[in-house]
Amino acid sequence: MRRKNWSHYPPGPVSLPFIGTMLYIDFRNPHLSFNKLRKKFGNIFHLQNCWTNVVVLNGYKTVKEALVQRSEDCADRPYFPAYEHLGYGNKSEGIVVARYGHIWKEQRKFTLSTLRNFGMGKKSLEERVAEEAGFLCSAINSEKGRPFDLRFLVNNAVCNVICTTVFGDRFNYGDEAFKKLLQLFENSLNEEAGFLPQLLNAVPILLRIPGVPQKAFRGQKAFMDFIDVLIDKHKETWNPAYTRDFTDAFLKEMEKGKAAEENGFNYNNLRLVTADLFAAGSDTTSTTLRWGILYMLLHPEVQSKVQAEIDKVIGRERSPTMKDQVSMPYTNAVIHEVQRFGDIVPIGLPHRTYRDTMLQGFLIPKGTTLITNLSSVLKDETVWEKPNQFYPEHFLDANGQFVKPEAFLPFSAGRRVCLGEQLARMELFIFFTTLLQKFTFVLPEDQPRPRQDGRFALIKSPHPYLVQAVPR
Ligand code: HEM
Repeated sequence: MRRKNWSHYPPGPVSLPFIGTMLYIDFRNPHLSFNKLRKKFGNIFHLQNCWTNVVVLNGYKTVKEALVQRSEDCADRPYFPAYEHLGYGNKSEGIVVARYGHIWKEQRKFTLSTLRNFGMGKKSLEERVAEEAGFLCSAINSEKGRPFDLRFLVNNAVCNVICTTVFGDRFNYGDEAFKKLLQLFENSLNEEAGFLPQLLNAVPILLRIPGVPQKAFRGQKAFMDFIDVLIDKHKETWNPAYTRDFTDAFLKEMEKGKAAEENGFNYNNLRLVTADLFAAGSDTTSTTLRWGILYMLLHPEVQSKVQAEIDKVIGRERSPTMKDQVSMPYTNAVIHEVQRFGDIVPIGLPHRTYRDTMLQGFLIPKGTTLITNLSSVLKDETVWEKPNQFYPEHFLDANGQFVKPEAFLPFSAGRRVCLGEQLARMELFIFFTTLLQKFTFVLPEDQPRPRQDGRFALIKSPHPYLVQAVPR
């Protein structure tokens, strides 16, 4: 739809023929481009990706109005034609990029309740996380205090939580197949973040050029192939009498026939939902933990205070549990500040208006892509005392008790709020406290001070850094 004649549409930069406003955006650092445009056009402005109308929402008030007050109006997702090459189609859209409607609702409800019910007669999710934290500490111990890059071990640990949940199995650290999976993952994220996928989604006809989809989505395709192998292996050992994990629960639903099929319980969707849980659930949590350790290197006094609280409440031997969280306001505040300042999903995931809606007095027509600039909320100068500093006191009141300001939205909000929020919180608390209970993290003598700016590829992760883990 041409937007030229719309009145009450948000302002924005001049659009060029064909490419629209795409040249204004650095797709490797979009949040920085948005911050510049915001200074000129205000908290709500429009862009145009070729023919796609995009509206960018900035600051706590505007983002909250869209996600919470106009939750259903803003609950749809843009359609990504490029994903058809990965099996995305009718009744199989996974969850993350599924369009708003009854299939998405069924899939989301099923996934949430299945994750929640895990533990019936088996180890609870919390016990699994605690067990994995133990494996992680043993692996760190074998580094014997030498400088090392935490990335691989932490990714491995976090990914194992999803693996046990989805496939009932974990990978040993150092497993070659697992290294391959992590590499595929990284490649597919990098692939998605650049200019080319934006262009292909905006101008899908380009996907018909022979070789283009294969070239543009090589990493993602390889990742899906890997998921297929895991599902096939799993099916070989499936016994309908037992539900071992998420895949079993999904296969059981698929047995229910036509009605279930209509609700998205089909083989193709199992692949996509599973891939979504991996994609949305591993790099996010492990990247947050890596920011956490990085901030401990930069702020040793904060690390010491966390360790003092751990020693007081849990001691050095017993494993941390979620029950400890209420008695540990400082540690809890530090973890929240890691999420706020680390700001790992700076521009959220794209939404789309499900119907015409009004935001901040502007009319946003149905079918407009919405970008929720979460970074501008987590660093909103009107809300946070020191938005651009690492300052755990943002989450403590005058009596040292934990408080959570409303603008704390790293998981977004509303109908599309992160489905894994509970699991992620549990992982962050258990992994972080277990690590600091067992080790003190220090910057190796010859190493430069780690950078705080991060690299963006859908999520913002720290530049590689080395650390020494000194056993306590
Ligand atoms: C969506 C953040 C961990 C599964 C999202 C969104 C954000 C987010 C910002 C977009 C919400 C929106 O569209 O407005 C995070 C952060 C995490 C994390 C910061 C860790 C620190 C997880 C985990 C899982 C998960 C552990 C899986 C078990 C999902 C799914 C969606 C989602 C399935 C799509 C929801 C939908 O479209 O209905 N997450 N996430 N996330 N997340 Fe997470």
